[in-house]
Amino acid sequence: MDLGLGGKLFVVGGASRGLGRAVAENLVAEGARVILVARDEGALSGTARELGEEAHPLAADLSDPRSVDRIAGAVSGMGGELGGVLVNTGGPPPGRALELDDDQWLAAFGSLVAGPIRLLRALVPLMGDGASVLFVTSSSVRQPIPNLDASNVLRPGVAALTKCLARELAPRVRVNSLAPGRIDTERARSLDASAAEALGITREERRARIGETIPMGRYGEPAEFGRAAAFLLSPAASYVNGVSLQVDGGLVSALP
Ligand SMILES: NC(=O)c1ccc[n+]([C@@H]2O[C@H](COP(=O)([O-])OP(=O)(O)OC[C@H]3O[C@@H](n4cnc5c(N)ncnc54)[C@H](OP(=O)(O)O)[C@@H]3O)[C@@H](O)[C@H]2O)c1
Repeated sequence: MDLGLGGKLFVVGGASRGLGRAVAENLVAEGARVILVARDEGALSGTARELGEEAHPLAADLSDPRSVDRIAGAVSGMGGELGGVLVNTGGPPPGRALELDDDQWLAAFGSLVAGPIRLLRALVPLMGDGASVLFVTSSSVRQPIPNLDASNVLRPGVAALTKCLARELAPRVRVNSLAPGRIDTERARSLDASAAEALGITREERRARIGETIPMGRYGEPAEFGRAAAFLLSPAASYVNGVSLQVDGGLVSALP
């Protein structure tokens, strides 16, 4: 199937590693041009080199309001019409609701809700007909994850934001979200390491125990997430709007 991504321009957040990188890699493989955004310039340049000449690094902090104009400027500098955005950044800190302090709550809100709204305010006007916005959320939109309460509280809000924007931006722009369960990235490894330490077990033991709770019996690979994202971002998904798609190997079994 031709996804119809050839020549289209995308902005991909959190693109230097993990899920964002996998999405950028799939988009480039399908012929798209991608502006990669993350904070660490060195890591981002390395990723861009590996992805090839259609990957364009732009070092920026998505929590910083000043980044928005720079990203919009880069889009205009590359021909203007934007095919879509992957709204993605680092995850919130682990912790329980009453133990996270006010600054941590505000930072998590800034990163997961306020920053994306600010970014889309600037980028949606640059989008062409048939463009696509895709939020990265979490399995916490369906089921709280122990000790990750900032995600448990704020991600469902992003799922609601997806629904609001899917109504408000259609038919010109589609808006969906992808909810990863356990995908093998640096963040998943680091969360596993902290949980393992608290439980007095090794990271491998922790990972094996979680793997047993996933019907597919294992963590997902970033590329498996990247392929689902490339589809939803593409014109091939032209009638898919307002959806939250789990990419979790069947981890969340709640209905509906
Ligand atoms: N992996 C999973 O299984 C899983 C499950 C549920 C939810 N998620 C969520 O999915 C998102 C991506 O996860 P991941 O596993 O790919 O994480 P990751 O491996 O830690 O990668 C995060 C990426 O985001 C960039 N980033 C972080 N903060 C940023 C900021 N303020 N501005 C711009 N870029 C920023 C990082 O680069 P710099 O540090 O250089 O900026 C990096 O490129 C996170 O929000 C995470 O909570 C992941």
